[in-house]
Amino acid sequence: MARSGKVTVVGAGFYGSTTAQRLAEYDIFDEVVITDIVEGKPEGLALDLSQSRPIEGFETVVTGQTTGQDGEGYEVIAGSKIVVITAGLPRKPGMSRMDLIGVNARIVRSVTEQVSKYAPDAVLIVVSNPLDEMTALAAKVSQFPAQRVIGQAGMLDTARFSYFVAERLGVPVGVVKTLTLGSHGDTMVPVPSACSVNGTPLADLLSEEEVTALVERTRNGGGEIVALLKTGSAYYAPSAAAAAMTRAVAVDSGDVMPVCTLVNGEYGISGVYLGVEAEIGATGVRRVVERELTESELAGLRQAAEAVKAKQADVASL
Ligand code: NAI
Ligand code: 2OP
Repeated sequence: MARSGKVTVVGAGFYGSTTAQRLAEYDIFDEVVITDIVEGKPEGLALDLSQSRPIEGFETVVTGQTTGQDGEGYEVIAGSKIVVITAGLPRKPGMSRMDLIGVNARIVRSVTEQVSKYAPDAVLIVVSNPLDEMTALAAKVSQFPAQRVIGQAGMLDTARFSYFVAERLGVPVGVVKTLTLGSHGDTMVPVPSACSVNGTPLADLLSEEEVTALVERTRNGGGEIVALLKTGSAYYAPSAAAAAMTRAVAVDSGDVMPVCTLVNGEYGISGVYLGVEAEIGATGVRRVVERELTESELAGLRQAAEAVKAKQADVASL
């Protein structure tokens, strides 16, 4: 496939640097830009990644740029088709994603102001936590059309669910289909009715108790890793998720993915950024895809919508 376009990753921490690496190794972009406020960090990572090019065999140019508090250095992102926002603090053991809301809202607001100034036509992919609230905030601050601001969470949560099912049944991950909707938090809604293994419904393979245990482990998937790492949160699976979304936009794939987007009428829910399935293309979200849910799954989704709606209203003033 021919290489084209520029993509930017804001934040050169664990999530941002691994996302930049995946995007560069896809070898489908002319340029991957990575920025951070820590002097020299993005330049150093970009140089290191560039030196891997002869070994990995990709030609995408990787550029690192330190940015200042008043937006110095942001010119480098001009012309980006997609900007992935990973800037923000990660959780520590015992913290919920919601504990990050104040500090990360300030970071995401200032980043979004600069991004919308220097890359006004970009699709934004937000990953900073708490995810649903930061996505809503980026949409408000950027004033971009709703379809151009997407949050990453459902791809990650779904991948975790699929992995747990594959591990439990001893089957390849490739034959497992699962789905999570709702929020990236306590009101995450794993959807067992959409889960199958080689086309066989999950409910025919595992007892209700076993499915419930896998659902619970999925809901706590991020916390389990934070508790093990002790100094940060997951980044390999998260960066795989954000990079896959970025590629779907870059190649205008039309793939249906679970993402955080503005829901307006689907499932009887309106005016809230929430995890639902959507068709992803060059303009971001082409359309939300509504599926048949069981009564309890639908109730869970509506409960998630109520929970994040209140927080999304608050975050606008942070
Ligand atoms: P990290 O601490 O390794 O990196 C964060 C980076 O952001 C640091 O390098 C920091 O200097 C940078 N930063 C802070 N303010 C900035 C600004 N104004 N402009 C540019 N860069 C800035 O954290 P990590 O692991 O990379 O996580 C990043 C975020 O992603 C966290 O909020 C974390 O909770 C979230 N996350 C979200 C997931 C999801 O599924 N949505 C999954 C995993 C993490
Ligand atoms: C995760 O789910 C912490 O949101 C992050 O790994």
